[in-house]
Amino acid sequence: MTDSYAAMYRRSIDDPDGFWAEQARRIDWERPFDQVCDTSHPPFARWFVGGRTNLCHNAVDRHAATRPGDAALIWVSSEVGQERVYTFSELQAEVEVMAAILAGQGVRAGDRVLIYLPMIPEAAFAMLACARLGAVHSVVFGGFASHALANRIDDAEPVLIVSADAGSRNGRIVPYKPLLDEAIRLAAHKPAKVLMIDRGLSPFGRVADRDLDHAALRERLWGTRVPCEWLPSDAISYTLYTSGTTGRPKGVQRDVGGHAVALATSMALIYDGRAGETFFSTSDIGWVVGHSYIVYGPLIAGMATLMYEGTPVSPDAAVWWRLVEQYRVTVMFSAPTAVRVLKKQDPACLTRHDLSSLRALFLAGEPLDEPTARWIADAIGKPVIDNYWQTETGWPILTLARGVEPAAPKFGSPGVPMPGYRVQLLDEQTGAVLEAPNQKGLLAIAYPLPPGCMQTVWRDDERFVRTYWSSVPGRQVYSTFDWALRDEDGYYFILGRSDDVINVAGHRLGTREIEECIAGHPAVAEVAVVGVADALKGQVAMAFAVLKDPARAATPQAALALEGEILKRVDQQLGAVARPSRVRFVQLLPKTRSGKLLRRAIQAVCEQRDPGDLITLDDPAALQQIRELVAGAG
Ligand code: PRX
Repeated sequence: MTDSYAAMYRRSIDDPDGFWAEQARRIDWERPFDQVCDTSHPPFARWFVGGRTNLCHNAVDRHAATRPGDAALIWVSSEVGQERVYTFSELQAEVEVMAAILAGQGVRAGDRVLIYLPMIPEAAFAMLACARLGAVHSVVFGGFASHALANRIDDAEPVLIVSADAGSRNGRIVPYKPLLDEAIRLAAHKPAKVLMIDRGLSPFGRVADRDLDHAALRERLWGTRVPCEWLPSDAISYTLYTSGTTGRPKGVQRDVGGHAVALATSMALIYDGRAGETFFSTSDIGWVVGHSYIVYGPLIAGMATLMYEGTPVSPDAAVWWRLVEQYRVTVMFSAPTAVRVLKKQDPACLTRHDLSSLRALFLAGEPLDEPTARWIADAIGKPVIDNYWQTETGWPILTLARGVEPAAPKFGSPGVPMPGYRVQLLDEQTGAVLEAPNQKGLLAIAYPLPPGCMQTVWRDDERFVRTYWSSVPGRQVYSTFDWALRDEDGYYFILGRSDDVINVAGHRLGTREIEECIAGHPAVAEVAVVGVADALKGQVAMAFAVLKDPARAATPQAALALEGEILKRVDQQLGAVARPSRVRFVQLLPKTRSGKLLRRAIQAVCEQRDPGDLITLDDPAALQQIRELVAGAG
C-alpha cells in the first residue's frame, strides 16, 4: 500500500478502480464483484457491482469466528449506573436472537424497521440484526418527539418499530412510549408490530396485537441460528433522515458493499484503528456518526466499540477519561460542543486518569474553533483531529489521513481531501472552479462520489438529483451546501452553510421544519427561524413570529406566556433538541420586494453584523425592529 498521503490520494483519483479494488479486500465477500464502479447513469454510482456481502457478517461473525472472546461492544451508562462488556461471540448471539425475533414477525430483506431507542445495547443489536436479514433500518434520534417521528414513519413505512419504555438524560427519565404511541396515531402508515424493550424505567401501556415483549421473545428464541443473508453490493442497508431546506426531511439511503468498504478504509487510513483495540465515539446512534463510528466502522475493523449513555459531566467531568483508562481506548471521537462543555469544568478532571493508550481525539459535526482545539489538545496532550463530512457522505470528506502519515493539524482547518473525494471550490454565480488559493467558494464534489456515500434519497431519485446535483449552473456536481476556502498548502477551511440548515451543538436541524411547527400555533401568522452564533453550542435557533392578533403579546407577561406555549409545542412535536432559544414577536418580517424571507439578514442582525448589500428590503422597518429587540435583550 502507498505510504504518503499525497501518493494515496493521487492514486484514488487517477486509478479509482485499482485503489478501491485494493481497499475492498478489507472486507469479506461471498461473491466477488465484477466491476468496481458503474458510472453509466450519472449522478448515480453503483459500487462493487455483482459482488455479494453482508455488513453483519463483516462487523460480527467473521471476528466471532476467529476471536470469539475479544471485547466487541462495551456498554456504559452513567445514567442508570450499569456497565457491560459483550465479546464478539456474545454479540453474535444477541444479534442472532434479535434477528430471530424480527424474522419471526415476518421481517424480510428489503423491509424497513424503524428504531427509536436510547443508547442501549439493543439499539446496536437491532441495527446489526436488520443488516443480518437484509432489512433496511431507519434509526430516529431519541431526542425527536411525536410529530417528527410520525413524518419519518410515513416516509419509511416500517413493518415493525423497535422501541423502549424510556431513556434517561441527566438523571431524568425521558419516557419514549407515549411519544411513539402519539406518533403512530398521527402517522398515516400504521406499523403492524412494535417490539418493546422494557428497561423498567417507566411503566407503559401495551396495545394488544401490536406491542411485543422483547424480553419474553428473547428468552423463547435464545440460541436460534439465523444465517447472514448475502446481499448484492448495491442493496439498501439503511436510511437516515436529515434536514435540508424544506420542512420534509430527506431519507439518506446507503448501500451495503460500498458502505462496508468505505468504513473499513476510513478506520485504517484515517482513524488508524486496529483490531483488538477500543474505539470510543460519544455520539448517538440517531446520528450518522453513531451509525458509522459507534456501530459499523469499529466493529468492521475488529475493534471493541464503547457505547455510552450519559452526559460528559456526570457523575463528573472525568467520566470519559476514566473510560479511556479503564478500557484502554486508543481512538476517541467526539464533537466540539462536548469539549466546550468540558472546558467549563474542573481542569483536574482531565488529568486524573491515565490516557497513555489514547493516540488521537477526532472531533466532527460542527466547526472546531481554534481556542477549543488548543485547549483540549493541551489538556490531554494528544493530537486533536478535526474531520468534516455529512450524513450524506457517511465518512470524512476532509481530515488528515492519520493511518497513512502523521501530518500535523492546522488549527481552524479540518484538513485535506480524503481518498476518492474530488473536492472543488466553485464560484456561486458562475459555477467556475476556483483554482487560486484563499478564495471563498461553494464546496462541491465532482462525480462520482466515492463508495459509502448516499445512493439516492429514499424513494425519490428526482429529489436526489434536484437537491444535490443541480445547484451549480451548467455542471453536474454534488453540492455540500457549505462555504469553504483552500489555503496555499491545500488545507480547507469551512465557512458555514449556504442554505437554511443550522447546527446546534453538532445536531443538524432544518429551520423550515421548526418554522412549520411554530406556524401551526393558532396565534401565529408567519415565522422566521434562523441560526445565531453561540459560544457553547456553536449555533442556537431564534424564532421571530408575526401574530395574527398583535394584542396577544401586548404586555411583557402576555408575550412571555405565548412564547412558553410555542416552545412547548416545539418540544412536544419535534423534541427539545429543536427548541429555539427565544421566540420574539415582531410586526413584520424582512422580505425582498418579491416576498422572499431574508433569513440571512435576520441572522446578521442577531449576530450584530452588518446585513450588507444582500438585502433589497421591502420595508426597512422590519429589520430595525429585530435590531432593537436584539439590542434590548441584554
Ligand atoms: O455544515 C457542515 C457541518 O455539519 C454538516 C453536516 O452535518 P451532519 O449531516 O449532521 O453530519 C455530521 C457528520 C460529522 C456539514 O455540512 N460540519 C460537519 N463537520 C464539520 C462541519 N463544519 C465544520 N467543521 C467540521 N468538522
